[in-house]
Amino acid sequence: MSGYIFFRSSIGKKIVMALTGIFLMIFLLFHLTINLFLFRGEESFNEAVIFMRTHFIIRLFEYVLALGFLIHIIMGIKLHIQNKKKNNTIDYAVNASHITTSFSSRTMIYTGISILCFLILHLINFMIPMKYLSGRSDYHLVTSLFKNPYYTIVYVFSFFMLGIHLHHGFQSGFQSLGLSNKKRFLWIQRLCLIYLFIICSGFSMIAIWFFFN
Ligand code: HEM
Repeated sequence: MSGYIFFRSSIGKKIVMALTGIFLMIFLLFHLTINLFLFRGEESFNEAVIFMRTHFIIRLFEYVLALGFLIHIIMGIKLHIQNKKKNNTIDYAVNASHITTSFSSRTMIYTGISILCFLILHLINFMIPMKYLSGRSDYHLVTSLFKNPYYTIVYVFSFFMLGIHLHHGFQSGFQSLGLSNKKRFLWIQRLCLIYLFIICSGFSMIAIWFFFN
């Protein structure tokens, strides 16, 4: 199959979505680990961010990350449109996908859009001031943001949306790559729940902790 046909096909798009999605999930674990240094205080957090900024491999990773997000978003929208067109041509009596598919799989596009909105807000809150304006890591900027109840609510709500998105994304990613089968399915589901628990409660705990303390 030529590259062009691969990217135009549903399966090609799904494979690209799975690869970029898994990469973004690894980024989230890494990002959470750095953020947990907030609990160790100003010096530790600033050191962790400076380490990230100065390490060549990690700086290279930032460009790959931006590209990963971009590809994932564009392919996701294209896949959604393609699936919608396909569903519209299928007879209503035959199409019972709304009954058999899970809530998280049916709402991927909406949870995805909500994560994109969060990401734009988040980059305006932290990345732009820290990286491009002051040029230094700012523990107080991060912790003081969560003193504002509106931000805390928006952030925690976004982590919840992220959880719903990843609930389907995690399992379907393995399936698209042909790594899931009947025997492995239970283990993938368990791994997914552990991953979701770590990510959603980890990020939410940071926002809620600094709101109260
Ligand atoms: C409590 C939760 C979070 C906190 C405190 C936090 C904090 C930060 C900070 C301080 C930065 C700037 C780092 C720098 O300038 O070097 C940053 C960047 C970033 N964050 Fe978050 N973050 C959180 C959750 C998330 C989530 C859930 C996502 C993804 C959905 C995310 C995606 C990003 C991205 C893509 C960047 C830019 C990375 C870069 O190029 O440096 N963050 N975050």
